[in-house]
Amino acid sequence: MERDSSFPAETAGVLSGGDDALADVTVIVCASCRDETGSDGHPRAGELLAEDTRRAASGENIRIRSVECLGNCKRRLSAAILRDGCWSYVFGDLTATSGADLVAGAKLSATSTDGLIPWRGRPDCLKRGLVARIPPLDLLKDQI
Ligand code: FES
Repeated sequence: MERDSSFPAETAGVLSGGDDALADVTVIVCASCRDETGSDGHPRAGELLAEDTRRAASGENIRIRSVECLGNCKRRLSAAILRDGCWSYVFGDLTATSGADLVAGAKLSATSTDGLIPWRGRPDCLKRGLVARIPPLDLLKDQI
């Protein structure tokens, strides 16, 4: 299980966190995901999650985008949080009302100074629902 202490913060000190950094964060929601019933009906649960996330981000300087599939269909409602120069996170097992939690995760990413979304303070669904985190390419460029 992911823990902050398990992963050295190799990007420590290279980022400046803060409210302005919210503009660097993008939340991507899969609008095609079905709910637990697997229904093909519209609006899809993923569309509802995208709407809920936009509502939760209203008035915030944060980008919300939707895509047709994040390749995480088996984990149902899915979303990702990306920030330039930081680790990218993919989440699953979300609900149509997880928008506020995604925005909270985006804010944690924006205030991070080591490129990681901190475990402490992270909404539960972004702990349990973690699928993968992907390092920024810059972190790997010195590896052979
Ligand atoms: S349909 Fe949502 S991840 Fe594939």
